[in-house]
Amino acid sequence: MAEIGKNLDKAIGLLKTGEVVAIPTETVYGLAGNAFSEMAVRKIFEAKNRPYTDPLIVHTHSVEKIEDLVLELPELARAMFETFSPGPLTILLRKSSKIPDLVTNSSPFVAVRIPDHPLTIKLLTQLDFPLAAPSANPFGATSPTLPAHVQATLGDRISYILDGGPCEVGLESTIIQIVNTNEIRVLRQGGLPEEDLRSLARLVEEEKKATPVVPGSLISHYAPKKEIHLVKNLSGFHPKNPKHTGFLGFNKGIDSIPNENQVLLSPKADLSEAARNLFSAMHKLDEMDEVQEIVTIEFPDYGLGKAINDRLKRATAKRS
Ligand code: TXA
Ligand code: MG
Repeated sequence: MAEIGKNLDKAIGLLKTGEVVAIPTETVYGLAGNAFSEMAVRKIFEAKNRPYTDPLIVHTHSVEKIEDLVLELPELARAMFETFSPGPLTILLRKSSKIPDLVTNSSPFVAVRIPDHPLTIKLLTQLDFPLAAPSANPFGATSPTLPAHVQATLGDRISYILDGGPCEVGLESTIIQIVNTNEIRVLRQGGLPEEDLRSLARLVEEEKKATPVVPGSLISHYAPKKEIHLVKNLSGFHPKNPKHTGFLGFNKGIDSIPNENQVLLSPKADLSEAARNLFSAMHKLDEMDEVQEIVTIEFPDYGLGKAINDRLKRATAKRS
């Protein structure tokens, strides 16, 4: 089992010797390793059972440090980072040769962000390398927003989980691409709502391609272990086996399902609160003995609701 603790020196020691450590961020827990070390990066992929074709986000603590990792920092990217970082924003930028090809699956672009968590910022300022970190879950599974989630799934594969409490945002970062001097493309909906980005740039639609720009945006993803279904609205919905059905809802429950099988993400209908609770609720329903299958509903399609709907669609998609 991994040790869970708040010992920064221990995390630093492990990272400096090329080991991986689970770290807190405002979005989800990450599985971090030295982004300049191929050996460390390889350990991240192995622990998660992640294909090398799915590149990793690189984390650092300042815009100045980002300049060390990229060939150029377009003005729009700088303005975006200055406005929204530290925070849940990741930008694809032309990578410098310091970043091993293994991190980006040989793409000339690297995804970078500045996480908004005091412990991890402190950690990053004490290291002389950035941290490559995907979410700290086995490939394709539900993302972790608590140390206990990491422990339950990766605890026998890593030695240390840096405990920064529950993640404040609860959804992964929003990933964008710079299109030109005033346009961007959102490649993954996430913790920074689209509406906020519009204050600095025009948004252009993602091109429909057979292979997504963000390779990890697989149709089936974030899935709990149990079967999970998405319904558009609750009128006319009758579970076949109410006692063994779990419900993941926004602010209102369903009469036909026992109360103890229902998890509401925000009784006061607040999308930030719902986002913060989403992955924890999926983990919780997965652990309930009585519950055999899970039903969930579509959320309002604006603000963080868009990213919540994205995660629910992927979690409920047919698994191949
Ligand atoms: O909030 C977050 O972004 C969290 C925390 C730990 O920072 N990280 C995270 O990482 O969500 P991960 O690996 O679970 O998701 C990153 C996504 C993947 O879909 C991956 O394919 C994509 O970003 N990605 C990473 N580097 C890329 C690159 N160079 N080009 C295109 N897509 C990239
Ligand atoms: Mg992930």
